[in-house]
Amino acid sequence: MSHPHLETLAIHAGQKADPVTGSVVMPIYQTAGYQFDSASHANDLFLLQDPKGKHGNVYSRMGNPTVDNFEARMTALDGGVGAVALASGMTAVSYAVLNVCRAGDNFVTSRNLYGGVSNLFQNIFRDFGIEARFVDHDDPENFRKAVDDKTRLFWGETLPNPGLNVFPVGEVAKIGNELGVPLMIDNTCATPILCRPFDHGAHITVYSATKYIGGHGSSIGGVVVDSGRFDWAKHAKRFPMLNEPDPSYHGIEWTKKFGNIAYILKLRATMLRDLGGCMAPMNGFLFNQGLETLSLRMKKHCDNASQVARYLANHPKVNFVRYPGLSEGNEKKWADAYLGGMYGPMVGVDIKGGVPGGQKFVEGLKMFYHVANIGDTRSMAIHPASTTHSQVPSDMRQKAGITDGYVRMCIGIEHIDDILADMDASLAKL
Ligand SMILES: Cc1ncc(COP(=O)(O)O)c(C=O)c1O
Repeated sequence: MSHPHLETLAIHAGQKADPVTGSVVMPIYQTAGYQFDSASHANDLFLLQDPKGKHGNVYSRMGNPTVDNFEARMTALDGGVGAVALASGMTAVSYAVLNVCRAGDNFVTSRNLYGGVSNLFQNIFRDFGIEARFVDHDDPENFRKAVDDKTRLFWGETLPNPGLNVFPVGEVAKIGNELGVPLMIDNTCATPILCRPFDHGAHITVYSATKYIGGHGSSIGGVVVDSGRFDWAKHAKRFPMLNEPDPSYHGIEWTKKFGNIAYILKLRATMLRDLGGCMAPMNGFLFNQGLETLSLRMKKHCDNASQVARYLANHPKVNFVRYPGLSEGNEKKWADAYLGGMYGPMVGVDIKGGVPGGQKFVEGLKMFYHVANIGDTRSMAIHPASTTHSQVPSDMRQKAGITDGYVRMCIGIEHIDDILADMDASLAKL
């Protein structure tokens, strides 16, 4: 068979009917531990003689068959060499960075980020001695300018939540390749259906599975996927943690022993083992189910969102609409290049009247849910300046495009007429 398409991989990758029971759907393996065959089998597993876990599991903090299945599907969808599923998107972001950063190191990140990630980078990592250098991604060269010999990675969100100005994935990846700095992409809002960052040169992807992957707003989870394409050994001076004997794991030299799966294996064997933010088997099951309909849902979300954007763009009570399909210049160029012909499931709108205007508009919506999360089947809205981004300093917030009257709308998969009617009624009350 020729290489399967994404829709097919989302259903079939990494799984066959259970050979013992015949179960077609991957069962929920609700177990903490696993029986070893022998002392030498146990020893092999602890020494990572079986890095892909084909011959056994150790403990569900480090791996679980239901969760493995989700990891295999994500690996296939992104076209990588391995993945680690985690307890939340925030865990995935933290471990992806901490896997290659130590106190005294820095990394360069777009300032257009989900507020929680922005807080993590700015505050928690600073307290760990790791410096996040925030730059505007409108000019990809800003990444080059911020690099020094302590820079360990570049970071960006494909479709930044809630700024929605598409990240120049290929342009920044190219700079990273020239300098020996890997590009890590948070692909939460685009999903592999709109964008496969590895196809554009990125090296690591990170997802909050809580959003479109799960798709129904029912569970929290995250995942890190490794392209296997960054040469950590070639840049050994920049990445001692992957090239020198690692005291945290039997003195292993990760790249020497594991080649192109060194990064993702280290993440599982150290970050996940020692910090412990594993994905629950039940959530692995739900995310597997979510993946099976991801392509259908994303198409409908994006189709509805584009109609909402066009409707709002002509409304007298609106200052401006932010939607990749209606952007101009480089923003439009990158939206066309990196979103696979769709423009995403979210629409940003600045309502006239500043903070009270934005808040009143959200309160007036009746069918839309007023919630902090995104990526549900339901339409949802929030006023970021007074909620998700209220802890981000005002100047940084404005620079990230979160103006006072800005409302982030995640357009669901309801009938478009009902979505437009709800917005119309709320705008009429302003
Ligand atoms: C782009 C992005 N990354 C990461 C996260 C964090 O994910 P989680 O809420 O699953 O921890 C979010 C949550 O909204 C997000 O939107």
